[in-house]
Amino acid sequence: SGQFTFDPGFTSTASCESQITFIDGEEGILLHRGYPIGQLAGKATFPEVCYLILNGELPSKSDLGTFNEEIKQHTLLHTQLDRFFDGFRRDSHPMAMLTGAVGAMASFYPGAMDSEDPEERRLASIRLIAKMPTLCARILKYTMGQKFVDPRNELSYAENFLSMCFSVTAEDYNVDPKIARAMDRFFILHADHEQNASTSTVRLAGSSGAHPFAAVAAGVACLWGPSHGGANEACLNMLHEIGSVDRIPEFIARAKDKNDSFRLMGFGHRVYKNYDPRATVMRESAHEVLDLLGLKDQPILKVAMELERIALEDEYFVDKKLYPNVDFYSGIILDAIGFPKQMFTVLFALARTVGWIAQLNEMLDDPTQRIGRPRQIYTGAAMRDYVPMDQR
Ligand code: CMC
Repeated sequence: SGQFTFDPGFTSTASCESQITFIDGEEGILLHRGYPIGQLAGKATFPEVCYLILNGELPSKSDLGTFNEEIKQHTLLHTQLDRFFDGFRRDSHPMAMLTGAVGAMASFYPGAMDSEDPEERRLASIRLIAKMPTLCARILKYTMGQKFVDPRNELSYAENFLSMCFSVTAEDYNVDPKIARAMDRFFILHADHEQNASTSTVRLAGSSGAHPFAAVAAGVACLWGPSHGGANEACLNMLHEIGSVDRIPEFIARAKDKNDSFRLMGFGHRVYKNYDPRATVMRESAHEVLDLLGLKDQPILKVAMELERIALEDEYFVDKKLYPNVDFYSGIILDAIGFPKQMFTVLFALARTVGWIAQLNEMLDDPTQRIGRPRQIYTGAAMRDYVPMDQR
């Protein structure tokens, strides 16, 4: 059994070659297809970034027009999904519903099982990107007990999503373009992140030839946990629990205490050991949104800023290279826009869908990729004879 490399948590194993996303954790660099995340978040739109991540190059104006049009043709959900939804408790966690609903959608597109057919593969990608906002908005409306609002194709991707979430009817949509831009930027910042846990899960599930929607459902399941996508919800819970600036030292002390499992949510990253370049943009965006909505004096923002300041100076966090990550500020933005915190990870999943599909497609096109099958170091009992019941 000694012939295998022991690498729990895969800290030193490259599972694939990839051309999609580059991260330099020491320098705090994140590139999609070579383009720095700060430039994409500052200048591009989310559909443009989706096109880039999927196809490798930035779209021309007409490429982007065609891509947007095609997405808009696929925004509706099959009406049979209504019946599926009715089975969920109204107070179900939105991530539980999303995991189930994405998997259920595989049943409507059996053709996507044929991974040899490029048109089926392309359609599955478009469908997932187009239907995720509709599905996520529907989950929000379901938990609120409100009527579902249809997609509106004359709106941008982010505007349409906000409209489906926050209008009461498809006609009463009225959102500040700056809020729509903040939503779009949130999507861009979460679009892909190389071989993180959920993406590796999608690749592993897909490596058996599973349906792409089922592979993405596996990714959604993995994203749910608080060490990964669930950190945005956990972070906002934590900020509320801290509640006021004077209680911060107590929580910092708990985070440092070896006998306390508490961690500062939104801090630390497996790869970034300098800063998380997504957090830099998210921080700016949080300030913009709170300014715009007149929420600058919110106690929660004060707690977040003071927590960040103290942690960045604290020896424990400095020594362990723990910096605010993307999830530290995202919850503040989403909360200000009006999303219940249980929806935060759903929004992360919506945005990460493009990364999951692009990575899945790359794997399917890669002749070196076989079914993923890690080995183990066996530490259990040596071979022994079965003992009959009356002799135990
Ligand atoms: N608060 C307090 N201590 C921490 C934290 C934290 N947030 N993060 C790491 N540490 C300590 C940890 O206790 C360990 O100490 P020691 O070496 O003394 O045992 C050391 O730092 C290294 O931690 P690790 O758990 O071995 O590091 P990892 O690379 O396995 O985990 C992480 C990375 C992101 C899971 C972890 O930093 C964490 O739990 N952070 C809080 C949750 C969070 O914000 N997650 C979002 C990550 S970014 C977006 C995403 O992936 O979705």
